[in-house]
Amino acid sequence: MESIGIASRPNEQQLERRRRRTAEMLGFHDEILLIGAGSPIPVPGGLDRVHPFTPHPHYLWLTGHTRGGGVLAYDAAENRWTDFVPPTSDAERIWEGAGDAPGTPLDLLTSWLRERADRRAALLGTPSALIEAVLPQADLTESADFAILAARRIKDDAELSTIQAAVRATAMGFEAARETIARPHATERLIQIELEAACFRAGGDSMGYDTIVGVGGNAAVLHFAPGDRPVAPGDAILIDAGCSIGGYTADVTRTFGRAPLSPRLAQIHAIVLDAERFGVSRCVPGQEWRELHLLVAERLAAGLVHLGILKGEPAGLVEQDAHAVFFPHGLGHLVGLGVRDASGYLPGRARSERFGLASLRMDLPLEAGMVTTVEPGLYFIPRLLRDLALRERHANAIDFEAAEAWIGLGGVRIEDNIHVTESGPVNMTETIPHVLEAK
Ligand code: GLY
Ligand code: MN
Repeated sequence: MESIGIASRPNEQQLERRRRRTAEMLGFHDEILLIGAGSPIPVPGGLDRVHPFTPHPHYLWLTGHTRGGGVLAYDAAENRWTDFVPPTSDAERIWEGAGDAPGTPLDLLTSWLRERADRRAALLGTPSALIEAVLPQADLTESADFAILAARRIKDDAELSTIQAAVRATAMGFEAARETIARPHATERLIQIELEAACFRAGGDSMGYDTIVGVGGNAAVLHFAPGDRPVAPGDAILIDAGCSIGGYTADVTRTFGRAPLSPRLAQIHAIVLDAERFGVSRCVPGQEWRELHLLVAERLAAGLVHLGILKGEPAGLVEQDAHAVFFPHGLGHLVGLGVRDASGYLPGRARSERFGLASLRMDLPLEAGMVTTVEPGLYFIPRLLRDLALRERHANAIDFEAAEAWIGLGGVRIEDNIHVTESGPVNMTETIPHVLEAK
């Protein structure tokens, strides 16, 4: 199969634009900023082996470098960025085929810092021995972090086309997964293997995170690692996977059923799909994410009321967090440069302790240029449905006996990746079919 993954990596003009936007958002006068790439992490007991390395995303976004050990330095008084990179070692040339790294030799960083020893400094990224000697100002570091996160949240053309390449490869993976589900001896593992193979054939560098394939009751485990469970008639098959290209990943979930379809699975799938479609339609500039999470939760709660699992009025059920027994995670997160990208909370906003809100991965208004997941789900999780404190707290809101009968179904999640634009939401993963029947 032809590779379709050609990613556009940032060129000099794009990096220049990112740095200019970052400098504007920092609002510095004569401070300095250091951003460490980080270094590969040794595998415990692995002798000379290291875990796969990805640089800190602030560093990767502002330099395009994928190797470790570097430091990007910014001097606001001169409005100048200096890209300090370590020399390529003989071992890297021999064992990894690495070439020369473009940039300023890292050993010049010490004198760069000495000349600026009296400046206030912010220290971001992953610290290294070289920059740890600098005493950063906590307030400056925090505000610089927020500024770079805010800059990174708005995707430029290079990023969007790389995400599109990752989406195309992911779509090939889901196509292969659907064909595999229809095979007589499909297992979670076989679905994973065929999905990932198709992603790689389509130009993927790696998977953006560990592929989730959960069949039947395993679909209720939010991050289930695929095993040898076979697919049986009526089973739910929840697949959450994303191919990564050039450091950018898609993050897509579909839940399929093995024919003959279980009517109960079809009911839950319809409720989640309706809630997901609603959530996607509200991904417009200015929409507060927390508010959208609660609106989607209300839709899910209405569906469960209809099935006799929840009792009462949807808005009131969400207010008391009864929905969260079935939807215990957040509505989504920004996605692109890594599976969580620049999600988070705006300055001054704190994570809620409410069961129904504590798992929100971001609390911010959507802005044009962001790419976010929308991923509602409904699950029948034994650990929650049999929790005595929850049973007591929600005795009037949840029919626990009725819910118990749904446990074998597992769960349903549906997740798309949405580009927020001034002219409305663009569903980048729309072409991956949302149907329940795999084939
Ligand atoms: N796709 C896995 C997650 O977002 O947690
Ligand atoms: Mn996700």
